[in-house]
Amino acid sequence: MTSNLSVAGRTAIVTGASSGIGRAIAETLGSAGAHVFLAGRTASAMEASKKKIEQAGGQADCVTLDVRNPAEVRALVESAVSASGRLDIMVNNAGVSFPAPILEGEPEEWRTMLETNILALLVGCQAAVQAMRACSAEGHIVNISSIAAQRRDSGVYGSTKHAVNAISATLRGELEDDTIRVVNVMPGAIATNFARNFDPAFVDAIVKMTGLDVDVVKGDRLPDEVFEKLTGSLRQTLGDPVDVANAVLYAVTQPIDVNLADIVVRPPKQMNL
Ligand SMILES: NC(=O)c1ccc[n+]([C@@H]2O[C@H](COP(=O)([O-])OP(=O)(O)OC[C@H]3O[C@@H](n4cnc5c(N)ncnc54)[C@H](OP(=O)(O)O)[C@@H]3O)[C@@H](O)[C@H]2O)c1
Repeated sequence: MTSNLSVAGRTAIVTGASSGIGRAIAETLGSAGAHVFLAGRTASAMEASKKKIEQAGGQADCVTLDVRNPAEVRALVESAVSASGRLDIMVNNAGVSFPAPILEGEPEEWRTMLETNILALLVGCQAAVQAMRACSAEGHIVNISSIAAQRRDSGVYGSTKHAVNAISATLRGELEDDTIRVVNVMPGAIATNFARNFDPAFVDAIVKMTGLDVDVVKGDRLPDEVFEKLTGSLRQTLGDPVDVANAVLYAVTQPIDVNLADIVVRPPKQMNL
């Protein structure tokens, strides 16, 4: 029988750690004792998480990057290894959605989804496996997919998440003789900045339910207090990012001979994504 792993003393990278699900995963792993490298675009948000992690007695570093550039993802992994001497957990979380119908979509938006949701995740998986093998880690690759991958008609965004499921399953097979497990997580609707590229009228209607006076601008992030209110008042339909983070923490602390392969985390009422 093998024993449960602790995250204490392990090094973790989380991409898309400046908002939503990635931020919650980074804070949860960091507060549980991992040395976390937060990677994302908004430095101020990551610095705030670093402070929280350090106040909880953990260790964190922030890296600002664009995951669409493979060289930046490889450099992120190299910097974590050179600073901490190892890599144990790689969370490929950064992702975007442009929900336009195929007949109205823009190739640049498709390219952004393909490069962020698939290409960056592939490069992250490959670089992380090399780093984990080099330090003989009992490692975990965590890929953030979506319940959109459970439906065939989930658009271009959904097709990127079908690809994530296929990549996770294929990599899991390639690693079955290694001490590296692949965990594929499919969240349902979670209260984050995920809808930043949706129709502003739709987002505005949801924000209005919080009673806060906030301008909704397409492409922009919303203030944290909006999500704090939403996870209180719409809990049946919008999950809390911490729900996903807790599932990730559970998966990466199982004995290395146990693979939690696919995990769906969703609120009781399900919205299509
Ligand atoms: N929320 C949901 O309902 C839901 C459901 C299923 C799956 N997911 C998946 O969960 C993951 C996290 O999304 P979320 O809901 O937490 O959305 P979010 O709040 O918008 O967070 C997305 C994160 O990815 C980062 N990011 C995006 N493009 C990037 C790039 N080119 N380079 C570096 N970082 C980049 C963002 O950085 P900045 O904010 O700094 O720009 C942010 O930190 C995504 O893969 C998404 O597809 C979300």
